[in-house]
Amino acid sequence: MKNILVIGSTGQIGSELTMELRKRYGNEHVIAGYIPSAPPTDVLMESGPSEVVDITCTDMILDVVKKYHIDAIYNLAALLSVVAESKPQLAWHIGIDGLFNVLEIARHYNCSVFTPSSIGSFGLDTPHVKTPQDTIQRPRTMYGVTKVTTELVSDYYYNKYGVDTRAVRFPGIISNVTPPGGGTTDYAVDIYYSAVKGEEFVCPIKEGTLMDMMYMPDALHAAISLMEADPSRLVHRNAFNIASMSFAPETIYAEIKKHKPDFKMRYEVDPLKQSIADSWPDSLDDTCARNEWDWKPQYNLETMTKDMLEKLSARLK
Ligand SMILES: NC(=O)c1ccc[n+]([C@@H]2O[C@H](COP(=O)([O-])OP(=O)(O)OC[C@H]3O[C@@H](n4cnc5c(N)ncnc54)[C@H](O)[C@@H]3O)[C@@H](O)[C@H]2O)c1
Repeated sequence: MKNILVIGSTGQIGSELTMELRKRYGNEHVIAGYIPSAPPTDVLMESGPSEVVDITCTDMILDVVKKYHIDAIYNLAALLSVVAESKPQLAWHIGIDGLFNVLEIARHYNCSVFTPSSIGSFGLDTPHVKTPQDTIQRPRTMYGVTKVTTELVSDYYYNKYGVDTRAVRFPGIISNVTPPGGGTTDYAVDIYYSAVKGEEFVCPIKEGTLMDMMYMPDALHAAISLMEADPSRLVHRNAFNIASMSFAPETIYAEIKKHKPDFKMRYEVDPLKQSIADSWPDSLDDTCARNEWDWKPQYNLETMTKDMLEKLSARLK
């Protein structure tokens, strides 16, 4: 990877991934692609090149790929799980029509492509505990449908045309920079903001609901190290299970209370979010990622909570 385009660079993951890639590959070599309704922050805008790139418009992607001699694309454009349920056709248009635009350009201009999948690609029929790498994927949400399709189409372009496509299935990502974009695991970010602001947290997910989660530094490390991995070791491509922690609302609440003893939480369950959460795995088996590209997370619930509270307290002071 010498020149990288990040599509969807202003979202929860893109805003931090773009900066991390700039640190690693040089500011001028990482282009922040964005849509006008979600413009870059000053930090993103001033630290390197940025261009309007709507994934549904082939010419926009093509112009940037040619202008900057792009050889790697991180495609993060998507509507997240809860938003996608209210706009299923748009979710498909961005997620799948957009993906085809990226893959066709990648095929002709020799770019590698990272398009993340999600724990949302699984469904009620999937084994929920230690969900295997290769298993049943019959999701009932449009988000899940687009993610399974993303995995299949990305593998298709690798097998048929040799396009170097690679991806992980991200669990719920927890971060303290850009707020999440409307997913089922957002509560695990929101709870830290309430704790730091001294507000009661109203939890939309039922007690006892386990979901896989990950702290942003581990997610960034996964995305970059998979793209840098030796291809001869990769048995799988789209997409790898990765895991670092799995918890239910009462567990993260108890961990935060160790630092903020007066913090209060009550439940007001959101039926849509709960039904999506119930269809997702409780925990993932990430053995293939560990064996094929040495995946290893750094953070657990305890170390993440300490870091989240320190960073948010400093920022929201
Ligand atoms: N954040 C998570 O917890 C999580 C978990 C699993 C998978 N993922 C996946 O990771 C990727 C990034 O997620 P995120 O959390 O940063 O999402 P996000 O909603 O925060 O960001 C999505 C980005 O896509 C952009 N976008 C929307 N429509 C676009 C279009 N037509 N053209 C170009 N860009 C467009 C948005 O402006 C935004 O910058 C997605 O594929 C998502 O499904 C995220």
